[in-house]
Amino acid sequence: MNTNTQKPKILVARAIFPEALAKLEETFEVRSNQADVIFTPEQLQKELAGVVGALVAGSERIDAAALANATDLKVVANISVGYNNFDIPAITAAGVMATNTPDVLTDTTADFGFALLMATARRMTESEHWVRAGHWDKWSIVNNPLGMDLHHSTVGIIGMGRIGQGIAKRALGFGMQVIYHNRSRLSDVDEKACGAKYVSKEELLRTADHVVLVLPYTPENHHTIGAKEIALMKPTATLINIARGGIVDDAALAKALQQKTIFAAGLDVFEGEPSVHPELLKCSNVVLAPHIASATEKTRRAMVDLAIENVVAALSGKKPPSLINSI
Ligand code: DGY
Repeated sequence: MNTNTQKPKILVARAIFPEALAKLEETFEVRSNQADVIFTPEQLQKELAGVVGALVAGSERIDAAALANATDLKVVANISVGYNNFDIPAITAAGVMATNTPDVLTDTTADFGFALLMATARRMTESEHWVRAGHWDKWSIVNNPLGMDLHHSTVGIIGMGRIGQGIAKRALGFGMQVIYHNRSRLSDVDEKACGAKYVSKEELLRTADHVVLVLPYTPENHHTIGAKEIALMKPTATLINIARGGIVDDAALAKALQQKTIFAAGLDVFEGEPSVHPELLKCSNVVLAPHIASATEKTRRAMVDLAIENVVAALSGKKPPSLINSI
């Protein structure tokens, strides 16, 4: 008779919803971090020792060093669709399954991308600060914060995965023209569904009224938008980044915003976040958000639930629904 009643040990590296934690505790012995204080790399290495599964987020870099003592680990589940915090070759070499949370956040993230685009083009946060500061003493034809139109303008989307396509479909409802650039061209059917025309990155930057970045971060995509690319954009254009910090050279962008080389920017992600480049903080023509594109309660719960589903599947000998690597 098997008298081993010990539950398998797992790590939950960031705070999650209490109900989700309780559900995990029915099956696993859980090391949790409900205090949500981010582990140092040394602490993470220690926490991963002796667990068979781990739920992590972008704040946890999972590489060979993190895995050095994780000899029992079978699965590491990111509570995020992006997985640039994963060193996939190192994770695979350690024989560990890596998973993420695609699909469940697509529409929520596309909604936010569009909201950020609207807020940026129509100077929403700048206008609110203006009202709060007591500057609104009269309606004026010319001395109100004047923005840029979305309707009948051209949006250029760089990164045409699920979220990029979601933004394109929303843009169609606003009577916008959609152009896109992506590693690979969409099928005719998908291009038609998005009303989108494939163009080179240079053409997109030169012709779009609004540039939206939704591409994954990889070393090759580092500074996809730097001073050279910003210089190609129209002086009336806006730049929206809901992709990842590091896709845009934030210092070059701050300079362009200060010199009004482009009209405005909307940023949900930053190089070195949660720090924001000090020069960006000085710009009134930028809308700043704290990496919240997927942040609705329903979607964050769905992301956690999918991460749990991935861990449970992996530890029961099944293929996790969103396995990234081949093990
Ligand atoms: C994602 O899921 O990639 C979001 O950006 C949260 O990290």
